[in-house]
Amino acid sequence: MTTIAIIGLGTMGLGLAQLYAAAGFAVRATDADAAIRDSAKPRLAEALALRVTSGKLTSDASDATLANLTVTRDLASLAPASLAIEAIVERLDAKHALFADLEPLLPGAVLATNTSSLSVAAIAEGLRHPDRVIGLHFFNPVPAMKLVELVGHKGTSPAALTIARQLTEAAGKTVIAAPDRPGFIVNRCARPYYGEALAMLDEGRSASDIDAAMIAVGYRLGPFQLIDLIGADINLAATEGLFAAMHHHPRYHPFLPLRRQVAIGNLGRKTGQGFIFPADPGTAPKDAAAIALRIEATLVNEAAWLLSEGGTTTDGIDTAMKLGLNLPRGPFEILEAHGAPKIRAKLAALEATTALRGRYVLAPMLEAA
Ligand code: NAI
Repeated sequence: MTTIAIIGLGTMGLGLAQLYAAAGFAVRATDADAAIRDSAKPRLAEALALRVTSGKLTSDASDATLANLTVTRDLASLAPASLAIEAIVERLDAKHALFADLEPLLPGAVLATNTSSLSVAAIAEGLRHPDRVIGLHFFNPVPAMKLVELVGHKGTSPAALTIARQLTEAAGKTVIAAPDRPGFIVNRCARPYYGEALAMLDEGRSASDIDAAMIAVGYRLGPFQLIDLIGADINLAATEGLFAAMHHHPRYHPFLPLRRQVAIGNLGRKTGQGFIFPADPGTAPKDAAAIALRIEATLVNEAAWLLSEGGTTTDGIDTAMKLGLNLPRGPFEILEAHGAPKIRAKLAALEATTALRGRYVLAPMLEAA
């Protein structure tokens, strides 16, 4: 039986333990906090019991999943693992120190980080075996979200990527290769969905009109409904993180309405008041198509910029965006549907009038042949 090690048993780590245990792997898991270790099995039992009650899982399958999980105190007990995934605190020093401890203890394991904002290369730097270090970026909630971004750095061995891919696909996930760039694919290519909506809000359009326009062209949730769902504070942190990592490029500009929303505590569902929440978007405005085209043109441009930086494909980006952000179509499918001239013209018109010079500069593949 192949063993998977999980370090960190918080939101993501417990989801990872559930995922691999349910797929029939032996899971050994640990956490630095004794209370978190002690509560891990009861928390998993509770999550599984809900699925049994709602008829989504048999009690036999629930028992088998629980039996596959062993919670241990020390890192040495993780030794049989073929793959170790860390889901500890999002700090470079902590992740680096953990991997330095793990490499001699787990000589046969691929060492994967679930970081969403740190560079995989930076985590691997200075280790004895950087070739074993990869990124495996899961989405919350882990058992439900199909997508996993698989990230190698320059020194990662192809074998490490293959092992992690095989084991994660065996657990039922769709694994998409992503470059070791800020935000990987989804957290980066999603930015314009929010950012361009916020730009329009800043210009005086209503959140309701913008959301209704996107829903009218097939999006399941408008940008502001999504911010309200995830939390304005989380969205602002992701935006500011990428803005800094991308050297304050105007494509990632954090617009004032988002900052204001966080400052006054209207974070969305979790505080009871958001941009739209608790209301729903109204009917689509007359210029819904123009609003949607503006957001879609910027989604296409961001994806095309990422593509130009290497390490991914048009299909990879489209699949990741559909699974990770629940988009009805990927950025390159949007490009195909509208045609490059229409996207190009929209971006050129925006660049001509924006105060944020350079925000809409075309990615190389969109420039006229
Ligand atoms: P969390 O705060 O729920 O859990 C982190 C756990 O790690 C805690 O139980 C803590 O006691 C433990 N821990 C901290 N330092 C440790 C160490 N040195 N050794 C062992 N255990 C340690 O955090 P969450 O949300 O599960 O995030 C974990 C990682 O996953 C972070 O890197 C985060 O950026 C990433 N991530 C989080 C997502 C989310 O939606 N929550 C989505 C994708 C990635």
